[in-house]
Amino acid sequence: MANLNQNHERGQWGSKLGFILAASGSAVGLGNLVKFPAMAGLNGGGAFVLVYFIILFLVGFTLMLAEIALGRYTGLNPIGAYRKISKKWSWVGGLGVLAGFMILSYYSVIGGWVIKYLVKSVTGGLNVSDPGMLGDAFGAFITSPGEPIFYHGIFMLITMIIVIKGIGGGIEKSTKLMMPALFVMIFLIAVRAMTLPGASAGIRYLLVPDFAKITPGVILAALGQVFFSLSLGMGAMITYGSYLDKKTNIPQSSTIIPLIDTGVALLAGLAVLPAVFAYNLDPNAGIGIIFNSFPAIFSQLPMGGLFSLIFFVLVLFAAVSSSISLLEVCVSYVVDEWKVKRLVATSVIGVALFLIGSAASLSLGAWSDFKILGLGIFDFLDYGSANVLLPLGGLLLCIVVGWFWGTDNAIKEATNNGEVEFKLAGAWIVLVKYIGPVAIAAVFIQKIMELLG
Ligand code: PHE
Repeated sequence: MANLNQNHERGQWGSKLGFILAASGSAVGLGNLVKFPAMAGLNGGGAFVLVYFIILFLVGFTLMLAEIALGRYTGLNPIGAYRKISKKWSWVGGLGVLAGFMILSYYSVIGGWVIKYLVKSVTGGLNVSDPGMLGDAFGAFITSPGEPIFYHGIFMLITMIIVIKGIGGGIEKSTKLMMPALFVMIFLIAVRAMTLPGASAGIRYLLVPDFAKITPGVILAALGQVFFSLSLGMGAMITYGSYLDKKTNIPQSSTIIPLIDTGVALLAGLAVLPAVFAYNLDPNAGIGIIFNSFPAIFSQLPMGGLFSLIFFVLVLFAAVSSSISLLEVCVSYVVDEWKVKRLVATSVIGVALFLIGSAASLSLGAWSDFKILGLGIFDFLDYGSANVLLPLGGLLLCIVVGWFWGTDNAIKEATNNGEVEFKLAGAWIVLVKYIGPVAIAAVFIQKIMELLG
């Protein structure tokens, strides 16, 4: 059979390492550095982490392999990929592209906040030891009409420039630079935080589960977080898989990427929570942990300004390496299906994202009265994508791969026709056909009820 992926118009990863770094770059993002510590703080620390791990093993690896295999087999964007399995499933890919578009529109707004805080850490604006004062400044900033939109525009522009340069020259090249730097920086920050006097309470909070705290709410929060953090359920990994050559070992890649993602999330937790406990701050402060508590702590340390700066550079790298994958999903669809040039597709989609993101940003301030299904624009985009479209996409992925494409075909693709070993193939079949769909259906129903009620 002709190699479906030898389409040089679409592009291809230059090396196996390049693919691993780009895919881990997609996975490692604001979800790891901002959401994971915040959610662990909010949902009982160790209890949340334990449940996260169980779900990661049951669903995370399973769907990662399914998406990458489906992408490489078809060599197409999510819509094309599902259509290739069967015409009647192409809409599943459509939901994915929509989810990617929705996520990126507000993700880019948060990316803009990170740039602003990066600038602030250079100009000394974060040199304030009172987290309450920092919190007030943060609230005033994100609700103001002009500045956050300006920074959101810069973030979007950076994302567009990389995607315009294509797979090898843009995405692969930039993630090859950013990811190793990111690993070094997160390690530095985590070690600094864990060696603060009094840090052990935070480490214990994160790593020792209190079983009484495992509630249905915690389980559902962890399931949603696994999807978001691993970039699953919307076809980002289908798209990245579509640029793979036929020799790559898919079972191995689908193990390494979730491990890297989880390692970084844990290091982020170990950077943030020990520091929060050492300074007697509130672990339940949500996103404020990152923008307020953390800078307040570092402002009191020798060379603290430098650590704040490193921290925000790190978060920015993580955010950009994810946002490019979100944009790439939308661009690959338009380039594949409408035969539009990459430059044109990226520019038009980028401008549309900038406009919708600006509305999301305004919804935190001036436009806060405008509601969709009871939610402001920002929250609607976040809830609708991360909590509804991603689990739904994951559920449908299990059904299409497990029951329509067929696990035999999927395993054949994943093992390069039996050439590479996949010891857990038997377990994977059970997970993708039965356990995955049932587990995801549970979270999905819960989220729908949350939206309605
Ligand atoms: N995984 C990214 C993060 O943790 C977000 C993301 C979701 C990226 C879905 C692509 C697709 O920040």
